Amino acid sequence: MLKTWKINLLRQPILWFLSGILLVNLLIACQPQQVTTDSITTPTATPIQTTTPATVQERPVAYPDRQLSANPAQLPPLPYPNNALEKAIDANTMQLHHDRHHQSYVDNLNNALKQQPDLQSRSVEAMLRDLNSIPEDIRTTVRNNGGGHLNHTIFWQIMSPQGGGQPTGEIAQEINQTFGSFDAFKKQFNEAGSDRFGSGWVWLVRNPQGQLQIVNTANQDNPIMEGSYPIMGNDVWEHAYYLRYQNRRADYLNNWWNVVNWNEVNRRAQASRQQQS
Ligand SMILES: [Fe+2]
Repeated sequence: MLKTWKINLLRQPILWFLSGILLVNLLIACQPQQVTTDSITTPTATPIQTTTPATVQERPVAYPDRQLSANPAQLPPLPYPNNALEKAIDANTMQLHHDRHHQSYVDNLNNALKQQPDLQSRSVEAMLRDLNSIPEDIRTTVRNNGGGHLNHTIFWQIMSPQGGGQPTGEIAQEINQTFGSFDAFKKQFNEAGSDRFGSGWVWLVRNPQGQLQIVNTANQDNPIMEGSYPIMGNDVWEHAYYLRYQNRRADYLNNWWNVVNWNEVNRRAQASRQQQS
């Protein structure tokens, strides 16, 4: 009886069909899983790197999105009227400083590079970072005038009629962590500016170790020549302050904080962090 039942069961086509489907599914389930990139989801999209990342030597300093051109070098317009920074710098000084002094650095750089088409295609930053690659007969001219062009281009940007007051953003925290307080930082910065004998600049930089540091430089040297990133700098050449302050450089250094553009300083501090990474 049981044998007859089994034989009848095996003769049912529907059972053969269902058994086949079951077997196929079992075989598929036992296959090793193949992971494809299409099946991976990530929380944030990662851009595909199609070009070689810019090296530190190629990264811009004067502007966020481009290096300072020497093909030819051009005087950037002041981002505000000559009399906009009266809280610290008078209109006559601003006009002479920008229209005459900065213009002369630009002109002298272009004259030095006139017969050097290869150098004209390099940025000002690139030349200053590798001065030994500049022909000896124009090296000092490029150093002084390329530096003068770079330094002043930064200088106009880090001042603003709406500037002054306490630092804001991440740079405020970093200044407190590094120097103890904003007042302690200002004191140290002003002292470094006063200590620079003759002409030069005082800077807040991020050094190659990634730390904030106050340095001063002679003449028109820029901290990128030593591998540091200039976050903010004050011009302590007499041409920057003599009309109003005469020999009182310390008074100029104190008043200058009334026009510091902390938004731009923060942007540059952020760029300096990326420069290190
Ligand atoms: Fe200057």
